[in-house]
Amino acid sequence: MTFANSNGAYDLEKETAPVVFVVSTTGDGEPPDTAVPFVRRIKKKTLPRERFARLCYALLALGDTNYANFCNCGKTIDKRASLQELGGKRFYATGHADDANSVPPLKENQHEVQISRAVPLTRHDSVKAALLIELDVSDKDLPLQPGGVFDVLCPNNGSEVEELLQRLKLGQRRDHCVLLELLKDTRKKGKALPAHIPEESTLQYVITWCLELRSVPKKALLRSLVECTTSGVEKRRLQELCSTQGSADYNRFIRDPNICLLDLLRAFPSCTPPLSLLIGQ
Ligand SMILES: Cc1cc2nc3c(=O)[nH]c(=O)nc-3n(C[C@H](O)[C@H](O)[C@H](O)COP(=O)(O)O)c2cc1C
Repeated sequence: MTFANSNGAYDLEKETAPVVFVVSTTGDGEPPDTAVPFVRRIKKKTLPRERFARLCYALLALGDTNYANFCNCGKTIDKRASLQELGGKRFYATGHADDANSVPPLKENQHEVQISRAVPLTRHDSVKAALLIELDVSDKDLPLQPGGVFDVLCPNNGSEVEELLQRLKLGQRRDHCVLLELLKDTRKKGKALPAHIPEESTLQYVITWCLELRSVPKKALLRSLVECTTSGVEKRRLQELCSTQGSADYNRFIRDPNICLLDLLRAFPSCTPPLSLLIGQ
């Protein structure tokens, strides 16, 4: 039985060298496209039990615990290949890597670099814009290798940060330290302090580096803003926009025109949310 990857195909029945599977899960617990034929073949009930008697393998399953079927494809292959089913022997314990628990970037490895080129790859009317971004790292001593990964941290625009500080009436307290704690009575699933906000950051730092000010406000955010709005008319409009009946209006006035938090606050002048609400969202 062959298993194909980008380096070619392996015959798992004849392979005598140790085999390492690294496989992710996509869709709703589905194998990635390139693994679909293999998974279909390995699942056949008619396969003899000793089919992989010679196989010596290890498996690393890639997944994300935010999805219901965590590492499902890896688990399926591992179960079928194992001694209990098709006779393969593990030479190393199976690993389940969780994208939701990726290690946050290390501060000491941060570099400030210039963008040397930015080219739009999508048409202006596409739902999501994609850009080709070139970063000039020529004068940095970066230990980059093929297959390596780096994160890009973009600060929010300075004038937008200033506007939000003023709007939250926190301009005078911009250098104060922000102390993050979980609400004692929160029933939120998977509750955790956001790992990307360093301890002992200042207010200005958090708003500049740790909040996404340009993303389109979700309905849940609109819902929680209702409580922080004093004008009755504005309250009602916010309630409409986040209701099921108001979906068309939400799409027309918020999602399609790519409204951001500051646009929303400008349109609802009596709304003054606490910073904690914005961080929570
Ligand atoms: C559209 C989509 C669906 C996914 N579905 C699952 C899933 O059902 N179970 C799971 O554990 N991980 C799921 N993941 C997370 C990926 O398996 C995980 O991010 C993995 O590291 C991706 O590796 P790859 O980019 O090399 O395929 C999904 C990711 C995406 C983008």
